[in-house]
Amino acid sequence: MKQLTLLIMLYNCGIQTAPMLEGPKDMRAALAYCKFEEIFLIMIKTVEWTNEGVRMIDQRLLPVEEKYVMLRSCEEVAEAIKQMVIRGAPAIGVAAAMGIALGAKQSVGTSVVDLEYDFDYMCDVMSQTRPTAVNLFWAIERMREAFRQARSGTKDVEVIKQRLVTEAQAIFAEDIKANRALGRFGGELLADGATVLTHCNAGALATAGDYGTALGVVRGARDAGKRVAVIADETRPFLQGSRLTAWELSKDEIPVTVITDNMAGHVMKQGKVDVVVVGADRIAANGDTANKIGTYMVAVLARQHDIPFYVAAPISTIDLSIPSGDGIPIEERAAREVTHVRDQQLVPEDVAVHNPAFDVTPNELITAIITDKGVARQPYTTSLRRMVEG
Ligand code: MRU
Repeated sequence: MKQLTLLIMLYNCGIQTAPMLEGPKDMRAALAYCKFEEIFLIMIKTVEWTNEGVRMIDQRLLPVEEKYVMLRSCEEVAEAIKQMVIRGAPAIGVAAAMGIALGAKQSVGTSVVDLEYDFDYMCDVMSQTRPTAVNLFWAIERMREAFRQARSGTKDVEVIKQRLVTEAQAIFAEDIKANRALGRFGGELLADGATVLTHCNAGALATAGDYGTALGVVRGARDAGKRVAVIADETRPFLQGSRLTAWELSKDEIPVTVITDNMAGHVMKQGKVDVVVVGADRIAANGDTANKIGTYMVAVLARQHDIPFYVAAPISTIDLSIPSGDGIPIEERAAREVTHVRDQQLVPEDVAVHNPAFDVTPNELITAIITDKGVARQPYTTSLRRMVEG
């Protein structure tokens, strides 16, 4: 086992150990013998807690450049979330928890009251980053609860700080486990040989790493021995589909074909899509689902062509406090994301631009919601509550 761990570490550092391990397929075979913790050694590392700060891959630069950045303060992590260095609802939640833990660790307050003052400020900063992904607010609440519990047991600020670091690390590990679980449930719904259309990136890069949610379903099917292929919508304006989904699937040797968003109807009509699987930023109590702008359009097309439309998300994405999608806040992002691709201007100067980052798919268009606790079906008001509370 020690030798296997060493091989995995070398592979992860980009050092090929062929002919022993020649690629992701060999790594997967090796993983069958690994302990859960060893998954961390080979997965795509979206975000990581280190003693120096929070380390993450800069998703703005992918697929051209694989660059990792080290963020050394809570404010830097918050800015990275805003600027989409890291994005995807579960990844935002994990990064926010780590950012808050980092900020708390750096607090110079010597009393619990001082630390709490700094901690509240950091939670506030984080909560103003991105409004739609409920995992952000879920993670902040987890950190607040950890703080409350720690404070009730001790007056030692160092003990409280350590408790917050432990909580952030737990949120990270739980996300990986949750996505493995939903990947298993979802994988069972895919037929051998299925072609899955997905929108945006709901993969390793959108979560703590490893499986992802919508792509977790694809990986779950693959790991159950099924052949699966993916059609990735390009996903204007930020291009998460063509840049990120295509990058991580090709790294994982899963067949992927990129189309522009306006080709989805055509490929469905041609019978090239067996099933649609997307992620979610927030699922209301009745199953209405906010996800990347354009998802609603895909859901309507899927219904028109009688193609199952699945949403895959961990329990932390379900917001029972909001009865329907009408109450989900939709983030409006900068016009420049629409007018430019990187530095290339595409739209005339001074033309009005609207850039809602998400839309809401009504629950009646959703065949099922795949969670880490099982597969929820209509009526969602009952089935989702059972999943969350069960
Ligand atoms: O704006 P983004 O890139 O953060 O939007 C991401 C999505 O819409 C994802 O589909 C969603 O967060 C689920 S990620 C597992």
